[in-house]
Amino acid sequence: MMDLSEITAKKIWLAPLAGITDKSFRTICKNCGADVVVSEMVSADGLLLRPEASLKYARFTEEQRPFGIQLFGSDSEIIVKALEVVENLKPDFLDFNMGCPVKKVIKKGAGSALMKDPAKAVLIIRKIREHLSDAIPLSVKIRSGWDIFSVNAIEFALKLEEAGADIIIFHARTRSQMYSGKSNWKLIAELKSRLSIPLIGNGDVRSPEDAIELFETTGCDSIMIGRGAIGRPWIFQEIKDYLSYGSYRELEQRKKFEIIAEHCRLASSEKTEEQALKEMRTHFAYYTKGLKGGSRIRDYIFRNPDLEENLNKVKQLYYG
Ligand SMILES: Cc1cc2nc3c(=O)[nH]c(=O)nc-3n(C[C@H](O)[C@H](O)[C@H](O)COP(=O)(O)O)c2cc1C
Repeated sequence: MMDLSEITAKKIWLAPLAGITDKSFRTICKNCGADVVVSEMVSADGLLLRPEASLKYARFTEEQRPFGIQLFGSDSEIIVKALEVVENLKPDFLDFNMGCPVKKVIKKGAGSALMKDPAKAVLIIRKIREHLSDAIPLSVKIRSGWDIFSVNAIEFALKLEEAGADIIIFHARTRSQMYSGKSNWKLIAELKSRLSIPLIGNGDVRSPEDAIELFETTGCDSIMIGRGAIGRPWIFQEIKDYLSYGSYRELEQRKKFEIIAEHCRLASSEKTEEQALKEMRTHFAYYTKGLKGGSRIRDYIFRNPDLEENLNKVKQLYYG
């Protein structure tokens, strides 16, 4: 197995974000300084039933290493079968999702529903560890618990550690909270003090100052950033500078636009024209958020079916 510190010693991870952190966005974040990136969630059932549709979420490029594939599912036999497909892609680690709050996933007993069934969660992790190559580390991404009345992250994570997990990733909100309220960093600190394996803290890092605070107040080994990177992938470089030199400078607008243009170029080369147009509309909305004149440009972009013209509209804001 790789030396775990390569992915856990004071590293900055890009969170898995379904619909956002595809191959092109991951490359952009990696170029901006993200140390570790993870696929969007990939269905274990899907990998067996409709491999081509699911594999597109799991594939990555060599430059994205160290790279983790995130699996979700609830049937340990299906999950074990899916491991073979995953291993063929040679990821640097496997991440298992026990945090997804979405109804469609919960209904099948997967994602955060597993936090209500620790025995099943333990069985899944045991089975994965038993069948997964020893060379591949296994992380598990969890939440605080199902709801405020059943916060069980500490006991749950300790059980997963015993079952063979190598790393815990902790988004300290309950399933019921979805994305409201705050990630409970005190609980991250408590878990860190109890766990022997590395812990990745997650939730609500929106600035380099937040990043340092999450490290310092919880003692977590690494941190993971999701929404804070959408529309501003350069946050990774800012955080790295802040950690290394104690200060950081906001990137010049023109440099930011170069990153956006590269994102657009990558999306165009990897997707159909229609897909690239649609997905870049979402990203452009984030890239223009908070900029003067942004809402007018967003109206234009959501009507105009030409990606190049849309990119030029965004350019006007960044060069204005
Ligand atoms: C649009 C969106 C998609 C997400 N998709 C996933 C996913 O596929 N797998 C996962 O484990 N978490 C997923 N999450 C949760 C994030 O990985 C992360 O735990 C959460 O957003 C908290 O971190 P943040 O405050 O830095 O965004 C998603 C979150 C959002 C907002």
